[in-house]
Amino acid sequence: MTISTISNHISQRCGLSFDDALGEEKLQTVVANRMQKTGQITIPEYFNQIISNEEEFQCLINLLTINETYFFREPEQLHFVADQLVPKLLAHTKEKQFVRILSAGCSSGEEPYSLAMALWQRYGEDMRQWCEITGIDIDSTILNNARKGMYRGFSFRGIPTEIRSQFFEQRGDEWQINNDIRSLVKFQELNLLFGKNPPNIEPLDIILFRNVSIYFDEPTRLQIQKNMRTLLKEDGVLIVGCTETLANDLGVFNLIKEDGLFYFSKSKPEIIESHHPGFKQISPDKKNSVLAESFELVTDPLPVLTFPKNCQEQVPASICLDELRKQVEEQQYDTILPQLEELLENDSQNQDALLLKAQVLMNQKEFILSESVVRSVLQAETWNVDGLVLLGLIAKWNQQMDEALNHFKQAIYCEPSCWPAHYYLAGLYRKNSSHTQASREYRITLQLMSSSSETTGLKSISLGLPIAEIRHLCEYQIVQLEGLTDCRI
Ligand SMILES: C[S@@+](CC[C@H](N)C(=O)[O-])C[C@H]1O[C@@H](n2cnc3c(N)ncnc32)[C@H](O)[C@@H]1O
Repeated sequence: MTISTISNHISQRCGLSFDDALGEEKLQTVVANRMQKTGQITIPEYFNQIISNEEEFQCLINLLTINETYFFREPEQLHFVADQLVPKLLAHTKEKQFVRILSAGCSSGEEPYSLAMALWQRYGEDMRQWCEITGIDIDSTILNNARKGMYRGFSFRGIPTEIRSQFFEQRGDEWQINNDIRSLVKFQELNLLFGKNPPNIEPLDIILFRNVSIYFDEPTRLQIQKNMRTLLKEDGVLIVGCTETLANDLGVFNLIKEDGLFYFSKSKPEIIESHHPGFKQISPDKKNSVLAESFELVTDPLPVLTFPKNCQEQVPASICLDELRKQVEEQQYDTILPQLEELLENDSQNQDALLLKAQVLMNQKEFILSESVVRSVLQAETWNVDGLVLLGLIAKWNQQMDEALNHFKQAIYCEPSCWPAHYYLAGLYRKNSSHTQASREYRITLQLMSSSSETTGLKSISLGLPIAEIRHLCEYQIVQLEGLTDCRI
């Protein structure tokens, strides 16, 4: 018996897979730690432990889940629920009843609380009368954190400080969600891969299933979709993350596009169309255009971010910073960091210097430090293109491809002419086998470079990309990608 017996067992029960190198390494480390803690000497002994002792199995799962989340992640979908779906559901409800929403794979609660905040902003206290939000997750430890509702700065990287002040109270270096919002959300431990016994959950109107399916293979996604279908009312709706639409179009639900957003509906398209003429069902042969549109969906400037932007003025680039930039390009990292520290001592909010520091740290592979510097910049200026590109590169280095994809998309969202972001995005799509999107991104990169290769759209940092080589690579890839059909749909 090897560790793969444990890996298969977890996969079968919870869907989590450890097929890639990083996953395998994580599983090995966690299992080794648990074996040491529980006094099991061999893999077969520990395997017996997890199949006979539910508590140990849960403990192992809690250590293996990936709980990455933050407030108002993919906000356009949350606003769509609050501003479009919920009013429709209420208008179609004859008797007074609850709109029930489930955040499936809610992690530490940022997603269901964000939805509660979006609904509160629109409907105020009245929403208590007709709305119930439940967050479920397989990870019991993370659910305890969700129930406490205490968060550190990292969770607020997607929102401006005004929103934080409106709904949170500071306690030391943490922030406590206020009771109005906290009391709107219940939490429950649940494995979405539940077997024959469906969980005790009242029929639902909306399920948010975002950034969870990326960790599952297709058979698992299919089974989970079937499970979620049983939990939804007949006119219920399933919403997956913006980049996950096609991977979840498995024939269990009907894919619908409305107001530029995609979601899945349980009922047949005829029924939906007769109720809501604005709905459009996507036929299976339109998948390529969905691919293109789901890209546009995220990259086109959408008027959905209702938050006031935290408009901190950029510090004008000083001569000193220009000199430092040159040193970064020449990779003189040893001398540059002390100079940056000195500059930041006098002007701790200097965004240009912070971004430069993050770039140096990233180049030195100090990813955690680098990311925390970028996050501090994004807290002051949510849509800082340089910061988003750096986050994309850090995620790429760490093999977090979906994260990287999202960051480059966000960078393009706030600066469509940023050709390095298009170029990196193209590479990620190519690796994903999303050939249509990859080819499209290479073409956009070429177009932008030909109008002005010097202007990268970046404001504070220079990536020093070799222009002639990039142009050549784009042309080469476009030819290679021609005629290839998308594998990842
Ligand atoms: C990356 S987080 C996504 C959080 C949030 N939905 C978001 O979009 O920010 C994924 C969550 O899914 C949970 N999860 C993984 N497998 C699950 C399963 N079989 N049943 C329920 N939750 C699961 C993990 O514990 C983790 O907290």
